[in-house]
Amino acid sequence: MLSDKDRIFTNLYGIHDWHLPGARARGDWDGTADILARGRDAIIEEMKASGLRGRGGAGFPTGLKWSFMPKQSDGRPSYLVVNADESEPGTCKDRDIIRHDPHKLVEGCLIASFAMGAHKAFIYIRGEYYNEYLNLQTAVDEAREAGLIGPNASGSGWDFDITIHRGGGAYICGEESALLESLEGKKGMPRMKPPFPAAMGVYGCPTTVNNVESIATVSTIMRRGAAWFVGLGRPKNSGTKLYCISGHVNKPCTVEDELGIPMRELIERHAGGVRGGWDNLLAVIPGGSSVPMIPKSVCDNALMDFDSLREAGSSLGTAAVIVMDKSTDLIRAIARISAFYKHESCGQCTPCREGTGWVMRMMNRMVEGRAEYAEIDLMEQVTRQLEGHTICMLADAAAWPVQGLLRHFRPMVEQRITDYKARTAPRIAAE
Ligand code: NAI
Ligand code: SF4
Repeated sequence: MLSDKDRIFTNLYGIHDWHLPGARARGDWDGTADILARGRDAIIEEMKASGLRGRGGAGFPTGLKWSFMPKQSDGRPSYLVVNADESEPGTCKDRDIIRHDPHKLVEGCLIASFAMGAHKAFIYIRGEYYNEYLNLQTAVDEAREAGLIGPNASGSGWDFDITIHRGGGAYICGEESALLESLEGKKGMPRMKPPFPAAMGVYGCPTTVNNVESIATVSTIMRRGAAWFVGLGRPKNSGTKLYCISGHVNKPCTVEDELGIPMRELIERHAGGVRGGWDNLLAVIPGGSSVPMIPKSVCDNALMDFDSLREAGSSLGTAAVIVMDKSTDLIRAIARISAFYKHESCGQCTPCREGTGWVMRMMNRMVEGRAEYAEIDLMEQVTRQLEGHTICMLADAAAWPVQGLLRHFRPMVEQRITDYKARTAPRIAAE
């Protein structure tokens, strides 16, 4: 069980003062100049040694990503861009960091930017997070007034500043290259990769895009050391993680615990258990709407980390744990997710633009059972055409929930068709 002394986010529930004096009292901004004095390479090596994997969903190693930034400037400035466009359904962890612990993010921006040779960071925050934006802007202003950022930030000799940019409400702008387009003032449409942002990011300059939770974790790792972080979690899945537990639980919450905690323990210890007890569980989406659901039989032994959930046929994603008990109409739930992706597709790739609509319309008919049995296979084939054939992963994200439904609950879909046929057959015959 994670002890309080190993918690990174000590003000997750907003019990304490989130302003600078409160943050300082909890250890933030303590000896920041000493951390920077260790030098760029030492910071990157420490981050690599910690094994921190990106907390935005993909789990790409953070220290490795920083090491892709050019060591010597070719005349172009380098930038850190923090992705605070948190839009994945079920996910609200970055929101809690920003509103209750914004100085962890601001200090992390300074350390990360210094390590990658950037004098400037942009934080792209979801437009709907207005109150969070106000807290974040206040924290940035407090840090600037105290000399912690700005010229000679924290007395380190490094000039550094932060600009906060508010998004306009598009899910696709959370995809890193669409975010960069949007930041530049263009339509938020994903770019082809490569080139990755480290080679050509915002304004054509070397850029690292990191998630809020990843950056807000940096200062604690640098203070407590990579070995401490590696001591938490599981091999190759080190550290603690914020989990957002929602749906049919007794006490929905965002909570910090170790990576690799058993799913059942996570839900029962922190979220008051499944409504009606564990045996009333039907399925869980363990990492936000983009990842496949897993049935109770898999949940029974599932561990909450990147590698374990991949082996279980799903993904940790954003660690947004959506719990569905036996009262759930799973087909309707996935149809709703299909409608979401149809709505949020930017439309530039044909398989995604056409396929998300096609899948949504088929799923809507499956909800009623108004389909032929053969259409189940057809729908599966359409999702296979979405997967891996487009510029960004939104199309994959639209495909995987449907595939998860068919993999684990195909008899439920078939039964819905059978029931519809039984209901309508006499009427059709009478007509
Ligand atoms: P990705 O795997 O394509 O990339 C992850 C990161 O690693 C990116 O920053 C990418 O630039 C970098 N990268 C990957 N390969 C690289 C290479 N060879 N060289 C240099 N850099 C490389 O995944 P992506 O599209 O960034 O994220 C997908 C995930 O995001 C999904 O799994 C989903 O869980 C999550 N997601 C999170 C949302 C949120 O609100 N936090 C919203 C929607 C999706
Ligand atoms: Fe746009 Fe969809 Fe193509 Fe992504 S996959 S770039 S959202 S059309």
